[in-house]
Amino acid sequence: MSVFASNIINEVNRLQDYQVYGRVTAIVGLLVEVGGLQGSLSIGDHCRLRGRGQKGVLCEVVGFRDERALLLPFGTLGGIGLGCHAEIGSTDPSVYPHEAWLGRVINAFGEPVDGKGPLNTGEAAYPIHRQPPNAHARRRVSDKIDLGVRTINTFLTCCRGQRMGIFAGSGIGKSTLLSMMASQTDAEVSVIGLIGERGREAREFIEDYLGEEGLSRSVVILASSDEPPLVRRQAAYVMMATAEYFRDQGKDVLCLMDSITRFAMAQREISLSAGEPPASKGYTPSVFAELPKLLERAGPGVDGQGTITGLFSVLVEGDDHNEPVSDSVRGILDGHIVLDREIAERGRYPAINVLRSISRVMPDCNTDEQNAIVTQAKKYISTYEDMAELIRLGAYRAGSDPDVDQAIRYYPVLEKFLGQSKTESCDLDSCYEQLAEILDMQSVLHPAATEPEQPPAGQAQGESAQQQQQPVVNAPASAGASPLSAAVQGLPQSAVTQATAAQQVAQPQPSVQPADQTAATPPAQSGDQAVMKEAETEQGSEPQPVSAQPLVAQAPGELVHPEAAETAAEPAPMPVTKNAVTDVVIDADVQELPPEVAVPSETSDDQEIEADTESDPEGTP
Ligand SMILES: Nc1ncnc2c1ncn2[C@@H]1O[C@H](COP(=O)(O)OP(=O)(O)O)[C@@H](O)[C@H]1O
Ligand SMILES: [Mg+2]
Repeated sequence: MSVFASNIINEVNRLQDYQVYGRVTAIVGLLVEVGGLQGSLSIGDHCRLRGRGQKGVLCEVVGFRDERALLLPFGTLGGIGLGCHAEIGSTDPSVYPHEAWLGRVINAFGEPVDGKGPLNTGEAAYPIHRQPPNAHARRRVSDKIDLGVRTINTFLTCCRGQRMGIFAGSGIGKSTLLSMMASQTDAEVSVIGLIGERGREAREFIEDYLGEEGLSRSVVILASSDEPPLVRRQAAYVMMATAEYFRDQGKDVLCLMDSITRFAMAQREISLSAGEPPASKGYTPSVFAELPKLLERAGPGVDGQGTITGLFSVLVEGDDHNEPVSDSVRGILDGHIVLDREIAERGRYPAINVLRSISRVMPDCNTDEQNAIVTQAKKYISTYEDMAELIRLGAYRAGSDPDVDQAIRYYPVLEKFLGQSKTESCDLDSCYEQLAEILDMQSVLHPAATEPEQPPAGQAQGESAQQQQQPVVNAPASAGASPLSAAVQGLPQSAVTQATAAQQVAQPQPSVQPADQTAATPPAQSGDQAVMKEAETEQGSEPQPVSAQPLVAQAPGELVHPEAAETAAEPAPMPVTKNAVTDVVIDADVQELPPEVAVPSETSDDQEIEADTESDPEGTP
């Protein structure tokens, strides 16, 4: 049977036995009052207003006042006047999804808008205002879903049936992030709602990001910002009903919606028109009632059904993450991905702030090892960001705090890891491998696989046994084990730090600022400039371009791999004192002195400067 014939049969089966009419009694703005039908209508029902010689305007009941039904139109009210007929339409608006909807772009009424011909309709009605499954009957969120975005797969791992929000101000990359997920996910079906956003973006999204392959396993529901609020709101319901259809077929569905804020705005327009008083920032109470009704429909199904994993973008107005819609949505969902304008401005996309984002189910769905790696990575980022200002100013001296040194060491590679171009893909397993590798934590991810290698035949057995007992602390970094590994494997951090501080923490220094490169290092700024001046007057000669912060000066661009640090020449001993600024001067000189001339750390500032002037300009003893 042709698509056309089967659609006609389905339509005929759905026709009602009789038709009831009312009449238009008033029109104010877009709000139409209809009399005579109030007893037969309820909120959310559809009516068709018959204008003079017109096909009719579809409306929805949004309220009642003085024994009249209040209707808002899905289109324009041209041709509608007082006394026009109002026919009762569907009392429970439904769509009839079908497998053949995959690969198609439809509107808020389930009609095709992609010019690819008629659309098959299914036999089962899916009411657009469907209730979510009973909370007790629902399965729990289960295994992980691959969303193709490195940062999300590792730092914000999602499970099938989880619901997440992507929170950001305008132009930070919400839509792009959603499109990356749509094209790279391993979900069987994607249902994508482009709701209330720019119409221009829709084609870009479908043609450039989704592509033929991505579209063939997706249904796109489209309602651009210029459409009436009822259409925009209904598109969200149709999106959810379509996702429910595929979920009921046992499929794991990824439901992407851009954006939930536009849905809330549409609801605000509708309820304000119906005379509901605004509550917070112009949003009416019904907005906050509708949000959970919609969002709760995503999630796992009951036994025998699939899941709907939901990712909803939230436009944070004025970058205020506590504005009412953001606040409300954050409370409903199982996690939030926060995009940061400051990160986007420095050119790292996706601009996910991993410290402010959270996936509430992640700790349970990950292994302990994976959680340990992610926790360690977050610790580096957090430590670095706490110190970022000081580091940039050159006021932090390498060696003062082992944690900060480690953070400076790993931050650039972590930043690189967090960035991802629009077309790059990264699958779930390799994401963790990559993260473990850049943090030298493969031993944590694969404890058995990275046992220390057997020593060469000539080596003593006893030494080998000792290595096996303390594999992490004593193993060289090249074997994949580091003090970090020890820390996450349960050893006290302090013990690890003490045991390895001199050898491990100081390692990056020689490789980033070998003595013979000191002169080439760019002059230090701000606080260091004062120090340079001081050095100049003391020596009465050319200022030694002391730079201070080997790691500081080079940290943002250059990755110092521990192995490289190991193979570099042995560094001169570095005094460790508490006065960072004075140390900056001393360090440069001490590196040029033989070890026996090195100034002990307790030496006062004056004494240190003296030692400084004693060294000749060439730095030879
Ligand atoms: N992964 C990315 N790689 C490169 N540029 C990106 C990426 N994500 C976003 N952008 C840039 O950010 C701009 C805004 O992104 P968009 O997704 O439209 O933001 P939003 O939906 O938050 O308004 C894009 O035009 C693009 O230039
Ligand atoms: Mg957008």
